[in-house]
Amino acid sequence: MIIDEAKPDVTTKGGSRSKAITAGYTPGRFALRDAWFPVMHGKLLKSRPVRRAIHGEPIYLMREQGVAVAYEDSPRDRERGRFRRSEFTAGTGRWPTFERYGYVWVWYGNNDNASVDLVPQLPILPEKGMPRYFGGNIVFDCTYELINENLLDLTHLDYLHSMLTGDALSEDDEITVSSTSETVTQVRRATNRPVPKGQKWFVREARQDLVAATVVHVRSGVCVINADWDPGLDVYLVHPCTPESPYRTRTSYTFNPQHCAPAARYMFPTAAHLVGSQDNYAEKPQNRIYQYEQSAAPDMNSRFDAAGLRYRKVYNELVSRQLSGDFGYRDDGHPGRDIRAELDLDRPRKGGRNNRSL
Ligand SMILES: [Fe+2]
Repeated sequence: MIIDEAKPDVTTKGGSRSKAITAGYTPGRFALRDAWFPVMHGKLLKSRPVRRAIHGEPIYLMREQGVAVAYEDSPRDRERGRFRRSEFTAGTGRWPTFERYGYVWVWYGNNDNASVDLVPQLPILPEKGMPRYFGGNIVFDCTYELINENLLDLTHLDYLHSMLTGDALSEDDEITVSSTSETVTQVRRATNRPVPKGQKWFVREARQDLVAATVVHVRSGVCVINADWDPGLDVYLVHPCTPESPYRTRTSYTFNPQHCAPAARYMFPTAAHLVGSQDNYAEKPQNRIYQYEQSAAPDMNSRFDAAGLRYRKVYNELVSRQLSGDFGYRDDGHPGRDIRAELDLDRPRKGGRNNRSL
C-alpha cells in the first residue's frame, strides 16, 4: 500500500528542488505487509481496550476470557454498528493475533498467509516473556526505517550514549555486515576500550571489549540486539520498531540482562528512557530530511554506514517484490530461523561464563 505518494513541495536552503540521494528509496511511503508486529506487552493487556496502530491502521486490543483479541473498530463504533471491515481483517473486523515472548503479535497483510511459523524467532527471550520490570515503551517521532538504520549503526553508541556505553577509543574496531532477503545484521567488535563512567561502579578493570550485534527484520522493524561489554554490561534487547505512521514509531522493548552483575541487571532497564530520549533527540529533527529533503549532493557515507546502505537495498527489493504481487518469504530470510549464530550468542567470554543458553 502506498501511504503517501505525493511529496511535499520542499525547497532546500539554496532554493533548488531536492532529489533523493538513494535512487528509489522512499522511506515512510510504502507499507511492507505480510508480517507479524509486536504491538504491545501481553502483561499490560487486560479487559480494558488499548489502541495501537500499524501503518496508520487502527487496532483495538483487549482480553476476552483471558485471550488477547484485536478489533479494527473501537468498542463504541461496534456498539453503534459502524464497521470498517478493511482488507486487513478479511471482512471479519478482527486482526489475527498471537502471543509469544511476552508480546501480543498482530498480523498485517493477507489473513490467508498468517502462519505463526512466521513470528520472528527471539532466542534472547524466554517463550513466556520476561517479568514486567524488564519491559517498557518508548515512542520515537520519526518513521521506523530511520530507527532501524540507527540501530544498524552501533558506532552511534560512542557519541550519543558514551557515558553508559563508552567512547570510541578502541584498540581495534571492526564492523561486519550480512543480509538475507528479509534481514540485515551488523556485528561490531571493538577491543580494549576504556570502561565508561556509567559502568565503573561495578567493573573493576580499566579496559573492556565490546561485541554488539543487531539483527533487523526489515518488514516488521523488529530488532534483536546482543550488546556485550566484557567485563561489564551484558544486555540482550528486543527493540521492536512498530511503524504507527511516518512520524511515529512505537518501541515496546524488552531487556534480558541475565548475564549482568545483579546490581547492573536491575539498573539497566531504568536507563532505557534516558537512552531512548537521546536517540529521539537525534532522530526527530532528521525525519523530514530523511523522507523528503535529501540533498542532491552526494551522500557522505563512511564504511561504518555499510549496514544502513544494505538495509536500503533489502528494503527496496522487498518493495519491488510486493509491488509485483509477491508477498512470500524465501528460505534464507525466514523469520522463524535460528539466529543465535548471527547474534554471536554462544561466544566464550573472558570471565568464563560460557554457558549462555537460556
Ligand atoms: Fe541509540
